[in-house]
Amino acid sequence: MSDSTQAVLAHTENNVMTITLNRVDKKNSITSAMYAAMADALEAASLDAGVRVVVIQGHESIFSAGNDIGDFLNGPAATADSPVFRFLRGISSFPKPLVAAVCGPAVGIGTTMLLHCDLVYAGDNAAFSLPFVNLGLCPEAGSSFLVPQLMGYARAAEALLLGEPFMAEAALEMGLINRIVPPLEANALAQRQAQKLAAKPLSSLVETKRLMKKSQAGVVAERITEEAVSFGRMLKEPAAREAFSAFMGKRKPDFSQI
Ligand code: COA
Repeated sequence: MSDSTQAVLAHTENNVMTITLNRVDKKNSITSAMYAAMADALEAASLDAGVRVVVIQGHESIFSAGNDIGDFLNGPAATADSPVFRFLRGISSFPKPLVAAVCGPAVGIGTTMLLHCDLVYAGDNAAFSLPFVNLGLCPEAGSSFLVPQLMGYARAAEALLLGEPFMAEAALEMGLINRIVPPLEANALAQRQAQKLAAKPLSSLVETKRLMKKSQAGVVAERITEEAVSFGRMLKEPAAREAFSAFMGKRKPDFSQI
């Protein structure tokens, strides 16, 4: 299951491409190869007139535990061309409707990628968290701009500075998600909504999305780039190295000397 060739599945049916995170044994944590597969799928979907909507989904028990921490520890230095940044540029500027189904934990990029989806359906077991500070890192995916905008600064500070998780009800109230359903129904609901979108005129969908996003598209793109520079630097610094080693060693991190 952890074989990266199978860890992201993409298939298209009735004009809807479905991208499934399929590395459940590692809690759908996302490796570099998986970012590359997702970036490729989004690029193909953007160019293919036969794809009108994309659905991103995980498993009913887990959406994603975020970036693979082993990759953080051992991977090459992140550059603008790294698969993760290709994926972030792809999802944040994706022109067609994006629908997500989220159940269980959605950690780090598991939550921040949702900021770029148009419709999000969550299982009642969904738990969102942005533990970048706890990992010695900083926000990514434009979340340092989009999270305060979405939930207000006070709640953003709890989510991003304290790294406190929030559950589906709070996410619904803040407008991160559209609806809460039993976990086994989330993927099916996302598919039904995607099919409704796919039956509408694509040019109207694309133009409406573009117009809705226009006022912040430039700011978000700039912020993703600025965050990426800081994030790439912080990955190599002592706080992050300690956090990653602690996770891999199944112990609590010790930041007292850092
Ligand atoms: N990177 C790499 N491996 C991960 C991972 C990650 N982000 N998240 C989970 N895994 C692995 C665990 O190491 C474990 O592997 P093992 O079976 O070989 O020991 C396996 O997935 C199961 O994880 P576990 O922690 O035992 O599951 P859980 O149900 O107790 O907890 C989470 C689930 C998501 C709450 C927990 O795994 C977690 O907090 N993960 C890290 C999240 C994180 O900090 N991500 C980075 C965000 S930037």
